Amino acid sequence: MYRSHTCGDLRVAHNNQEVTLSGWVQGIRDKGFMIYVDLRDRYGITQLYFDAESTPKDIMEKAQKLGREFVIQIKGNVVERASKNPNIPTGDIEVVVTELTVLNNAKVPPFTIEDKTDGGEDIRMKYRYLDIRRNPVKNNLIFRSKVAIEVRKFLSDDGFIEVETPYLIKSTPEGARDFVVPSRMNEGQFYALPQSPQTFKQLLMVGGMDKYFQIVKCFRDEDLRADRQPEFTQIDCEMAFVEQEDILNVFENLTKHLLKEVKGIEIENFPRMTYDDAMRKYGNDKPDIRFGMEFGELNKVAQHKEFGVFNDAELVVGIAVPGASSYTRKELDALVNWVKRPQVGAKGMVYAKYNEDGTFKSTVDKFYDQDDLANWAKATGAKPGDLICVLSGDANKTRTQLSALRMELAERLNLRNPEEFAPLWVIDFPLLELDEETGHYHAMHHPFTSPKPGQLELLDSDPGAVKANAYDLVLNGNEIGGGSIRIHDKDMQATMFKHLGFTPEEAKAQFGFLMDAFQYGAPPHGGLAFGLDRLVAILGGQETIRDFIAFPKNNSGRDVMIDAPAYIDDDQLIELSLKLNIKE
Ligand code: AMO
Repeated sequence: MYRSHTCGDLRVAHNNQEVTLSGWVQGIRDKGFMIYVDLRDRYGITQLYFDAESTPKDIMEKAQKLGREFVIQIKGNVVERASKNPNIPTGDIEVVVTELTVLNNAKVPPFTIEDKTDGGEDIRMKYRYLDIRRNPVKNNLIFRSKVAIEVRKFLSDDGFIEVETPYLIKSTPEGARDFVVPSRMNEGQFYALPQSPQTFKQLLMVGGMDKYFQIVKCFRDEDLRADRQPEFTQIDCEMAFVEQEDILNVFENLTKHLLKEVKGIEIENFPRMTYDDAMRKYGNDKPDIRFGMEFGELNKVAQHKEFGVFNDAELVVGIAVPGASSYTRKELDALVNWVKRPQVGAKGMVYAKYNEDGTFKSTVDKFYDQDDLANWAKATGAKPGDLICVLSGDANKTRTQLSALRMELAERLNLRNPEEFAPLWVIDFPLLELDEETGHYHAMHHPFTSPKPGQLELLDSDPGAVKANAYDLVLNGNEIGGGSIRIHDKDMQATMFKHLGFTPEEAKAQFGFLMDAFQYGAPPHGGLAFGLDRLVAILGGQETIRDFIAFPKNNSGRDVMIDAPAYIDDDQLIELSLKLNIKE
């Protein structure tokens, strides 16, 4: 028996008991005649005590040779400590060691295994197994497991069946590039790893499974960010004989369940906002609604004066930054420079201070008097003490820029409280999105999303205006899930492919299996997928999903621990028909 208790178990109630513990040496304090060792495992830290008077000499010697991260097993007696440590749950006791076995030695770790480590990101990624010993990473993984278990509980209690779908498939378009896998047995041919199980879950509906879910890996070859990994996990769901309302209800309840079970928070209100409103009010299809700073459109009140920049703009739009009228000239210049950075791309920024005494002072006082500026305040909801920041130009671009500024200011003003949760359904997404570069429309969600009833006719005349039964769940400014009601009719799916620029042959080659299936009685169906990594990170009060994944990739898509991707040797390339066999 390696252990009778874990290193997090023992309390005063165990006083005088003989126990066996196993774990890692967190730290050693050798005072010569007495030695203290902190023993750590997943559950906590227990103080071990050796002293020259009562501990046998050979054990004392062994203890003196221990190093950090050695794996040891001890036997000993629990005693109540004279000086207690209130900072750890086991701080009232220590174990007086009577037997010590070194189960394994350890090299000195390249960084300290402590909550605040001295190791940088790169070294911790390389030695991820050591990083996982640290509380912040360990606790994130435990938290993730808890969320996943609650998801399974909730969905299976609601009649969902978990079905696994294959990883070696043909492309499922979700807007990213595919990772491909060469087939040895089918020379020159490739599988694609699923960007999502989208087509398979629809086929399960044709198969009558009715309510499907899967906690599933997805693979997307796209540029990485804090909230994106090349392989990530979805809570993927699909239901038959449902309308949008049914799906929103199920997943709203799932989210409520999770908030309650893992955070102890009850949230009743899941507001809904149309995509158009989200863009107009926040310049963003995933607005963070924990704080205000809603956009105020100023065309009416700021145009037709003498200020050419605004007069020439398609949109003049501003936000009121709470309490920021006290910003110094230097701070304001820095803010203007911030919006001019290439990542944001604004040409400049006009601002007006709404002073506490009710007067205004703006960078465009030459063109606008106090009454004009009072109108700006009204449109943006500014109060005395606020700062009104105004951008102008092309409507879409300006909204995006102002949204970036809004989020940056909220961050700086600490308005994004990670312990506050503000879910929001964004609904009525456009069906199609214009690709500025190619001038072609592509599916905003994916090609299997159905247009709203009665909007099919618009596809020819005004494709950009067609709305879909597509929805996203946004939590604290992050898209944690998205889905839609699907097309279940072969002809409508064919029409859709045509509008997306597929020839009938291309559509058949890529998605013939789905359209074939639709001929055998496909039920009306729809669904949604949550990003599990994102959901867990946000519930955990963070936005970087890497910290909630046991073995994540770095920003270049590399696993630096196992050093992947890696070259493969010529024989393997030849076997996979990726290289000619010149020996033959
Ligand atoms: P979508 O592409 O919106 O929809 O993906 C669903 C959710 O998955 C998460 N997500 C990611 N998380 C981490 N890293 C990534 N690279 C990444 N990409 C997406 C997001 C997103 O909301 N098949 C559809 C769902 C459906 O229609 O039912 C789909 O995959 O949180």
